[in-house]
Amino acid sequence: MIASNRGPVSFTLSEDGALTMRRGGGGLVSGLSEVARDSDLLWVCAALSDGDRSAVRLAPGGRLDGAGYDTGPLRMLEIAPAVFHRAYNAVANSTLWFVSHLLYNSPFTPHFDGRFQREWESYQDYNGAFALALAEEAGHEARVMIQDYHLSLTPAMLRVERPDLRIAHFSHTPWAPPEYFSVLPDEVAVEILEGLLGADHAGFLTARWADAFVSCCEVILGARVDRDRRNVTYQDRTTRIGVHALGVDGPALRARAAEPDVESHLQVIKEQVGDRRLIVRIDRTELSKNIVRGMAAYREFLAAHPEWHGKVVHLAFAYPSRHDLPEYREYTAAVQRCAKEIEDEYGTDDWDPLILHMEDDYPRSLAAYRLADVLLVNPIRDGMNLVAKEGPILSPRCALVLSREAGAAAELGADALLVNPFDVSGTATALHDALVMPEDERTNRATRLRAAATALPPQLWFADQLRALA
Ligand code: F6P
Repeated sequence: MIASNRGPVSFTLSEDGALTMRRGGGGLVSGLSEVARDSDLLWVCAALSDGDRSAVRLAPGGRLDGAGYDTGPLRMLEIAPAVFHRAYNAVANSTLWFVSHLLYNSPFTPHFDGRFQREWESYQDYNGAFALALAEEAGHEARVMIQDYHLSLTPAMLRVERPDLRIAHFSHTPWAPPEYFSVLPDEVAVEILEGLLGADHAGFLTARWADAFVSCCEVILGARVDRDRRNVTYQDRTTRIGVHALGVDGPALRARAAEPDVESHLQVIKEQVGDRRLIVRIDRTELSKNIVRGMAAYREFLAAHPEWHGKVVHLAFAYPSRHDLPEYREYTAAVQRCAKEIEDEYGTDDWDPLILHMEDDYPRSLAAYRLADVLLVNPIRDGMNLVAKEGPILSPRCALVLSREAGAAAELGADALLVNPFDVSGTATALHDALVMPEDERTNRATRLRAAATALPPQLWFADQLRALA
C-alpha cells in the first residue's frame, strides 16, 4: 500500500455538477504513479478539492476504482475541510516545508502560539485518519509505504493499530539539521521524530538529508545512532535509514516528449526564439525554487554581456502552486514584477529577452527541455529536483546550471555548473559559462548527466525500498 496526501488523480466539479478527472502533478505523484500503474498496490490519499469530495461521496467506502474510475486501486479520505486546511496549509506547507527548506529569508517567521496548537491538533487528527484507514485496509503483514512530511506521525500511529505490518516512510523533501529543526516547539519536534521512527525503514533522497535526520534523532531525542550502518535505536526499536535517489524513466519520458502535442509547442517556441540561444527554467512558483534570484542573475548577465543582447532568450515557466497561502501569492507577484523589469529594461521591438509563462502546461515544458541550450535549476534547497534530471534526458546538448543545495547535485554535480543559490553574481557567471561552453564539452557532459539521471527510475527506486523493508 501507498499513502500520500496528494493522490494520482484529482477531480474538478463543473457548475452543472459533472466531475472531470485529471492526473495529479508533482514529483511524488509522478514517481509513484509509474510504480502504481499496472500493479495491485492500494493507494490511500486525501480528497483535496470540492471535486474530490464529491467523487468520494459517490464511491462505496471511498474506493474510486469501485466507482468505475480508471485509477487503479485507490481510496480517497474525506477529511473535514477545516481540519484539512490546518493540517495541509498551516502545518505541512507553512511550517514543516519552510523548516525543511531552511527558508529563513522568506516570510516564514517562526511564531508558535495558541493558534498553532490548534493547527497541530488538526495535523494529528489528519495523520490519525490515515493511520485508521491504512489499518482497516491492510492485509496481514502487508507492506505500507507512507510518503512525505504531511504524514510524519502516521507510521507510529499505524504501528500501534497494526504491529504486524511492515511500515516504511519516505521523505521527498530535504531534512533540516538539528539547529534548524529545533525552531519547532520541543514537543512537536519530538513527536515528528518519534512518528517517523514508528517505521521500520525511513527513506531519504540523499545521504545529506538522511544524515540530518539521524543527527536530529541523536540530538533531540537522545536516540542511539549507528552512522555507519545508518540505523537509529529508540525505545528498544531500531529503524533503518535508507538513501534512495529517485531518478527518471528515460525511455518513457522520451516517448512522451515525441508526441504530437509536444511537437506543436516545439514549433511555436522555435518561431519565438528563432536562432537565438535558449535558457530554460521550469518550476512550480515556489519560494524554495529561488526564481527571483534566478531572474536577477539573468539580468546581471545581460548587464555584464551586452554582446549577448538580442542573441539569447530566457524562457521561464513558473507554474501555480499552493495559492491558498499568502506567501505563495506574494511570491508569484514578485516573479511577475521581476520579469517585467527585465523586459522593460532590455526588451526591444524584435527581442523579448525573457518570456514568462505561468499556466501549467506539461507538453510545453517538454518542448522547452528539447530546445534548451542551458537549463537553470537554482533552488535554495530541494529534496531532489527532477527538472535537473529531465532536461539532460531530452536535450542532448543542454548545459545544466545547478544549485549545490539541490539533492540532485549529489549525482549530477560533476557535470553540472554548480552554483551557490544565494550568489546572484556567481549564477550570472555560470549562465555565461554555460552559453559559451564548447560544443563537444556540452554534449559529453550531457551524456554523463543523462546516465546519472536515469540510474534509478521510479520502478527500481520503489523496488529498492521494498527490498530494504523486507
Ligand atoms: O515533497 C515534495 C512534494 O510533495 C512533491 O511531490 C511535489 O513537488 C510538491 O511537494 C507538491 O506539493 P503539493 O502537493 O502541495 O502541490
